[in-house]
Amino acid sequence: TKPQDDIFSDHMCNILGQLEDIFRKAVLVAYPDVSDPVIQIQLSKHADYQCNAAMALAKILKKNPREVGEMIVKNVAPGPMIEKMDMSGPGFINIVLSQEFIRQQITNVIMNGVTPPPVTPKRVVIDFSSPNIAKEMHVGHLRSTIIGESLSRLLEFLGHDLLRLNHLGDWGTQFGMLIAHLQDNFPDFATKSPPIADLQAFYRESKKRFDEDGDFKKRAYEAVVKLQAHDPVHIKGWEEICTISKTEFQKVYERLGVRIIDRGESFYQSRMEALVKELDDAGFLEEDDGRKVMFADGAGIPLTIVKSDGGFTYDTSDMACIKNRIEEEKGDWLIYVTDAGQAQHFKSFLACAVRAGIYNPSVTRVDHVTFGVVLGEDKKKFKTRSGDTVRLVQLLDEGLQRSEEKLKEKERHKELTPEEFVKARDAVAYGCIKYADLCHDRSRDYIFSFDRMLDFRGNTAAYLLYALTRIRSIARTAGVNREEIVAEAKKKPIELDHEKEWKLARTILKLPDVLVRITDDLYLHPLCEYLYEVSTVFTEFYDNCYCIEKDETGKIVKINHCRLMLCEATAQVMEKCFAILGIETVDKM
Ligand code: ARG
Repeated sequence: TKPQDDIFSDHMCNILGQLEDIFRKAVLVAYPDVSDPVIQIQLSKHADYQCNAAMALAKILKKNPREVGEMIVKNVAPGPMIEKMDMSGPGFINIVLSQEFIRQQITNVIMNGVTPPPVTPKRVVIDFSSPNIAKEMHVGHLRSTIIGESLSRLLEFLGHDLLRLNHLGDWGTQFGMLIAHLQDNFPDFATKSPPIADLQAFYRESKKRFDEDGDFKKRAYEAVVKLQAHDPVHIKGWEEICTISKTEFQKVYERLGVRIIDRGESFYQSRMEALVKELDDAGFLEEDDGRKVMFADGAGIPLTIVKSDGGFTYDTSDMACIKNRIEEEKGDWLIYVTDAGQAQHFKSFLACAVRAGIYNPSVTRVDHVTFGVVLGEDKKKFKTRSGDTVRLVQLLDEGLQRSEEKLKEKERHKELTPEEFVKARDAVAYGCIKYADLCHDRSRDYIFSFDRMLDFRGNTAAYLLYALTRIRSIARTAGVNREEIVAEAKKKPIELDHEKEWKLARTILKLPDVLVRITDDLYLHPLCEYLYEVSTVFTEFYDNCYCIEKDETGKIVKINHCRLMLCEATAQVMEKCFAILGIETVDKM
């Protein structure tokens, strides 16, 4: 973190982090013998922030906590951030921020937007979405896509170097039956692309034959062997099927504004071969009923590295994959976003990767970011009325239609041009689907409900997007544009006076700390809670403080420029939250 003197630079300061630093230094000066003191700073009702390090420290030092607190206060280096400190209770230190500091920070937001708090940049490899070829991309993959995209945006904003990978299931045994079925239905597929309109139906047909017809099953197995031996005709069939699938997936990504690079399991084929040899030579593999398995401390269940027919598994690919990400991609932070049902698989392969010397937890950070199941409104697994799994494209289409109906319920939609309406419809539909997912504790199951997510009251994207358009419209009504507000702020830092103005300003300044905190455990719902808080505190401010005053005829008689600045800073902060959540904003809706 940057030193306190630097806080009048053009950056937005992570206040909690800075205070922690300041108090850690004070403790070390006051008690040089204490090694690595725990400094906890919290937001407080009595002051702006509160430090309760004195209690824990007093225990260690066998001293009176109040005395220790006073000693810490005495040793806080003077700086521009803190206005005053006092003690309360058994030894809490109350911290009041300097008003000048707050004004300066808000002015920075107006001039430079939200700037990221300082972090040490890492090379992050993030694996998300990752559907399986030819099988449908289901709501579980939608969760992975939404969470993964948002985490990527968060980490990119903080300055990390991201490699976003789509670990497609493109190398499984399902290709045997698909290629055999392809040979029967489109014999000239090697020279002419097969016109398969519905790949999932094609998958179901071939699965049916596989299950019912012994001859077909045999041919399917032979086809897998030929594919893995890189027979050109079989590779061609595989490519055709992958292309159809990937084109479908891509449509979903485009609609949702997701950026990701396809790198499926097939990418690791040669690496798997090399790795298996390496593991075998090093004596890590054991025979088990014709299979080759690997055990490790803490793995729970062993990995199946080679099947009895010589084929590789999901385990093998993840072992080769983590090796690639650490050694070739030079990743020092690996993130995998999958459903919680895969926890055992991750536990096993990570333990085996440690045992094999591929992964060292003290060098590389690895997060398995898990999420719960998507449920229907009946609290059962999310299904269509007829009991089929819900197709993503259909789900998104329904979202658009519902969003359109919802927007048309309001009179104000008539003020929009057709283009503006379509923009608003799309932003609300996709924004609501994303926000409904992200605003919950991701590790829990969540109930998918269009009615709830499109409600204009309460904590939904529909409400928040509308709140932002209202804030934006205040300056428009006043006839002041953004450049003029910025120019105003450049001349002189914002003046704040009303209690609700100060409250809003303090809320705005919490964003960097929220971002730092969610980076610790990669849970995104606190960011949604924060966004909602900003909009509620804004409403409080707006209900109490006039930004524009009009006379009886509706003519503007007075514009409060400082309050317009505060509106601008609020909009900046809300927009940054939306950008990280992957939600498109609109000017009008
Ligand atoms: N394709 C898998 C699935 O659909 C997810 C892959 C996740 N990534 C990984 N490296 N295992 O469940």
